[in-house]
Amino acid sequence: MKRKDLLDLQSLTAEEITYLLDTADSFREIVARPVKKVPTLRGKSVATLFFEPSTRTRTSFEAAAKIMSADTYSLAGTTSSAVKGESLKDTMLTLDAMGIDAFVIRHPLSGAAHLAAQHVPSKPVINAGDGTHEHPTQGLLDLLTIRQVKGRLEGLTVAIVGDILHSRVARSNIWGLHTMGARIRLIAPPTLLPADAEQLPVEVFTNLEVGLRGADVVNILRIQLERQDSAFFPSVREYARLFGVSKAKLSSAAPDVTVLHPGPMNRGVEIASALADDPEIAVITEQVTNGVAVRMAVLFWLMGATASAS
Ligand code: CP
Repeated sequence: MKRKDLLDLQSLTAEEITYLLDTADSFREIVARPVKKVPTLRGKSVATLFFEPSTRTRTSFEAAAKIMSADTYSLAGTTSSAVKGESLKDTMLTLDAMGIDAFVIRHPLSGAAHLAAQHVPSKPVINAGDGTHEHPTQGLLDLLTIRQVKGRLEGLTVAIVGDILHSRVARSNIWGLHTMGARIRLIAPPTLLPADAEQLPVEVFTNLEVGLRGADVVNILRIQLERQDSAFFPSVREYARLFGVSKAKLSSAAPDVTVLHPGPMNRGVEIASALADDPEIAVITEQVTNGVAVRMAVLFWLMGATASAS
């Protein structure tokens, strides 16, 4: 089951996903300790290269690496030599030459993580979100959270609501959930559905109430205004009225429905504030906690074999 990189969930097998979820499950105990430190990656180094903003992914990758005793180096696109025109290739070659052992990269271009991985053929690269392609560790932490709450993934009906077109989270959820045997529904206005939606292993709905009927899990996506160069819906108010999810709108879902949101949230747009803050329904903070354990599991998987664990 060894791989060099984690670039997507589409290519992972059910065995690999189960291994990562089980490993992350076991690491949750370490994250909950008062003293969060194990020697697993002592002597190793991890660089995080973020060419887009991030709060959750970047911090949790750095926390995961530090908990496992790796040294971390943090590069932001806005303050690195990329602003002077340095290519991604030369950035990777430079960090490789410094002896960095593994790389976590977020980039606005789909495929950037694959490209980065080609330039460091002997070192792991982890995709922390590339354009509208995939965000595999977000997908894994969503699967882990669903499995913890529901006890399984197989046979569940998971509705993904919102800006599917621009969402790398949606794609990683679709592939991960499909591989693990869940049924997936996409709910969005036609303008926010990808052109290839019919080729994906999903059912497509353009009516929120119909799409939510009987859903066990609802994963609500952020409206990504920063990726929208034209109008995809008449107004934010109109979108909130038709596709914003509130407790009342969940009345057609399963009685024990669980709500996820990858964050950051636009409260009052895609998700009502009262729903986001309801601990009986929403598991958004659990997703964040699981994010650290999942990223520890991924670093362990890709770097662990050469780690000096003792
Ligand atoms: N969910 C997610 O990727 O959040 P950040 O952009 O804060 O990392």
